[in-house]
Amino acid sequence: MFRSKTLKQWLPGSGYAQQVPQSVVGPLRSMGAAMGRIMYAFVLFPVLVFTSCSTETPSSAIAVSNPNPTYVDIAPVIYKNCTPCHRAGESGPFELMSYADAKRNANKIKFVTQTRYMPPWPADPGYSHFLGERVLTEDEIALIKLWAEHGAPEGDLARIPAPPVFYAGSSLRKPDTVIRFKEAIPIKGNGTDHFYVVKLPLELSKDTFVSYFEFVSAQRKLAHHVNGHLVNYTPGKKKETRSGLTYALDEFRDYKTLYGQMNILNDDASFPTLTPNTVYYLPGFTPPVYPQGIGGYKVNRQSVILLQNMHYGPSREDVLDSAYINVFYGPKPKRPIYETQLGTFGVSKIEPELILHPDKIETFHTKATLNNDISVLSVNPHMHLLGKSFLAFAIQRNGDTIPLIKINNWDFRWQYYYTYQHPVKLSAGTTIHVYGTFDNTAGNPNNPNRPPKLVTQGEGVKSMQTTEEMFQFIFTYLPYQQGDETLDLSK
Ligand code: HEC
Repeated sequence: MFRSKTLKQWLPGSGYAQQVPQSVVGPLRSMGAAMGRIMYAFVLFPVLVFTSCSTETPSSAIAVSNPNPTYVDIAPVIYKNCTPCHRAGESGPFELMSYADAKRNANKIKFVTQTRYMPPWPADPGYSHFLGERVLTEDEIALIKLWAEHGAPEGDLARIPAPPVFYAGSSLRKPDTVIRFKEAIPIKGNGTDHFYVVKLPLELSKDTFVSYFEFVSAQRKLAHHVNGHLVNYTPGKKKETRSGLTYALDEFRDYKTLYGQMNILNDDASFPTLTPNTVYYLPGFTPPVYPQGIGGYKVNRQSVILLQNMHYGPSREDVLDSAYINVFYGPKPKRPIYETQLGTFGVSKIEPELILHPDKIETFHTKATLNNDISVLSVNPHMHLLGKSFLAFAIQRNGDTIPLIKINNWDFRWQYYYTYQHPVKLSAGTTIHVYGTFDNTAGNPNNPNRPPKLVTQGEGVKSMQTTEEMFQFIFTYLPYQQGDETLDLSK
């Protein structure tokens, strides 16, 4: 974020990752290869295996706050924790906007809350807390269970709270402007995943500042992941950005040629300046809204958004996605946000080398020591299908441990950017430690290889593939300023 580099450095296979010094840190140097970040969901989305979860809580063991819950008691829990995704146009497979919706799905709701499959929140709330945390209390889970078992009664109609009102077309508010896809993306109903590269010319009347870009798909149930970058052209370097392909299937081939066909290069065929990861989407993801002046992007008059990595899940029928990007203008950023990463393509070496042996569960470690005081805003753990658990913490020079994030059951479908309520100060000399455990046995239902086989990080673009693995810890931060610890990032 707000870290510019040329497109060339960022092309797969350019060797950029190798230029990053290993086992040093200095998040304040220009680093944090964007390459790793473009690889999110190069994974399959397996069908939920209901039988693998069997942690039913015996209702007798829990003192429930209300032995006869009705929808009056359940509605607030659902509206807060479920409805944001389970509503028209969102990723959830059915709506949870009314009593009738909840009653119809009562048994399923009971099941997915008992198993803690829903709401999806892989981070352990006993380890660290984040904004927008969606975790049900034991009592809420027990109430839902009783309610479902008692026939899902409605209760006093007058006391049922009104369902939340969402702004149609944005999870935030009315955008300042909307950039629409020039051509809808065709998703074939052939039951396989699809990957696209998409170009959206901005064509502004003057240079401007944007606080965030919000990607909105018209096919939310299929859109699995988007990672987009801002390409800014220096005045005089680019005549026009409209011509050329507006989208192409990403076949992991020759990107230089592809970017030529998409008319993304400068007119002299050199590479324009690129700010990575300005557009980010994952089901359930809401862009963190930082306090005024923190983060944001300068957008040149001549610029394009390049969705370098747009992943749709399998569809049974041919559909079109007329997606768009909501643009929210903002002030000139006073405090640009930086981003760096440990592990694959990052600033630190993975030890031992990331080689996953068949039929083994193995743990890997990576660490880095900070040169400067920083304020960590958000963290984003990343692994692929073989990921099992993830742990990151920091050890200060005085020996104190600062918990960062713990994921007990890795779920590659829910790879959030977890944002702290208050920035976490890490002083110079602090070492960040990250541990990742991978399950390359046949017992891992997500293992793409039957029987399991040797899996490595692969080279460059190959790491995007399902069969390759990654181990990354990405974080965003500000150079520390006095008082950052008390900044409220929710405001
Ligand atoms: C971050 C978005 C999100 C939130 C929040 C969320 N869901 Fe879901 N839910 C999904 C998606 C996407 C699916 C479909 C994919 C899957 O099953 O993993 C799903 C699947 C389900 C299913 C399984 C449907 C089926 O037939 O397979 C149930 C039941 C469900 N959700 C209930 C809930 C309940 C109850 C809550 C709140 C306690 C909730 N969800 C919160 C996104 C969400």
